[in-house]
Amino acid sequence: MATYTLIRHLLASDQPRPEVLVRGWVRTRRDLKGCSFLAVNDGSCLSHLQVVLDHQAPGCAGWNQMSTGSSVEIAGDLVESPAPGQRWELQARQARLVGPAGPDYPLQKKGHSLEFLREIAHLRPRTNLFGAVFRTRSRLAHAVHRFFQERDFIYVHTPIITTSDCEGAGELFRVTTLRGDIDARPGEDFFGKPAYLTVSGQLEAEAFACALTRVYTFGPTFRAENSNTSRHAAEFWMIEPEMAFCDLEGDMALAEAFVKALARAMREECAEDLDFFERFIDRDVKARLDFVIERPFQRLPYAEAIEILQRSGRRFEHPVEYGRNLQSEHERHLTEQHFKAPVTVFNYPREIKPFYMRLNDDGRTVAAMDVLVPGIGEIIGGSQREERLDQLQANLRAQGLKEEDYWWYVDLRRFGSVPHAGFGLGFERLLMFLTGVGNIRDVIPFARTPGNAEF
Ligand code: 4AD
Ligand code: MG
Repeated sequence: MATYTLIRHLLASDQPRPEVLVRGWVRTRRDLKGCSFLAVNDGSCLSHLQVVLDHQAPGCAGWNQMSTGSSVEIAGDLVESPAPGQRWELQARQARLVGPAGPDYPLQKKGHSLEFLREIAHLRPRTNLFGAVFRTRSRLAHAVHRFFQERDFIYVHTPIITTSDCEGAGELFRVTTLRGDIDARPGEDFFGKPAYLTVSGQLEAEAFACALTRVYTFGPTFRAENSNTSRHAAEFWMIEPEMAFCDLEGDMALAEAFVKALARAMREECAEDLDFFERFIDRDVKARLDFVIERPFQRLPYAEAIEILQRSGRRFEHPVEYGRNLQSEHERHLTEQHFKAPVTVFNYPREIKPFYMRLNDDGRTVAAMDVLVPGIGEIIGGSQREERLDQLQANLRAQGLKEEDYWWYVDLRRFGSVPHAGFGLGFERLLMFLTGVGNIRDVIPFARTPGNAEF
């Protein structure tokens, strides 16, 4: 009886293995006189297993139906391959066609454009690139949990449906069961008031940090930002740690250690896929990872960042002025041109930041920080939170928000309030940074962007 094994384990074998069974999809078939070579892949690793089918062998009679894209089950012996470029091949005894694929299978040849592959997002995981991207995504999700679990952070599942706009940017998707003019009768709606898909689990994470000390969330978040850029998705995954008894300094230290740890995990645990990204996607990707692993992050206040940009002599598309948000082109100038390093910018003007950030003693800036990386710009946004009751109430008023709507959040400042801080890392932005893939649509299994929710 042959034993079923994933191709990854077979290719890592250090000795021949008789009687093994593999299952997977045919990438290519080459026919020679009397035999065929199948490249079979089951997604467990980047490499294909070469399968040799002897046309005379009774168990290989169906060889000529095993075309590109078909699924197969092959029993045979793993032997040293005489061909160069691979150590092992499988000599088939029994080859069974599981599901045929006709000549209209869209992935016949290599080198399809990323745009075309987005239109067949249900099939693209069968390509080398997308197999590598989604294996990487899985390993890094594991590395995220490991990072926090090793540091005694408790994983909290914050709600996906909420009734508050954490970021105050009005980029909310409404959740409703009503039809017609839904704003005319919000009381009749399912939750008795307007509800939305969450833009951030932060407010709820704060409640848990003020009880369990160190917590994190890792889940989907939603933003109806109508910006059709390569770095924005309407549905993306965010990781949000929150720490009680922590200030901005501690927050920046955790954020920087986190980015370094994930770069290291990429280097150490995704080696084969990383080689592929370096060869075909971004030849600087490893150098960039090593840079982040080895070099300390540059930290500087927002005001200094503005001065550096103004003195740079560069003409930017968006104006550089104290009191305006940094745009991606500015962030990239700081990391790629000026510092040639990852950069943490802190102490932003209070006017451009949400109500929950802690007011600094200067009365003008808040204890906010953004981590910027080369190639992407902002990858992390975070802050120390306003823990003083009267100041939080003043912030809400200043931003035109009603205290009743945030009563439970304000309550946390009434009962045992503590200094606390946290941040959010966009998981897809991180994946773009670590793989070199240039468009956020290509690191999400099925991307949701303006005008696009196919699949
Ligand atoms: O800077 P943001 O808006 O911060 C927050 O949501 C805070 N509540 C986080 C916190 O302090 N707990 O978003 C955090 C990160 C950004 O730095 C970016 O990486 C990512 O989330 N992000 C997006 N990623 C993909 N598509 C979008 N539309 C994104 N918007 C933000
Ligand atoms: Mg931000």
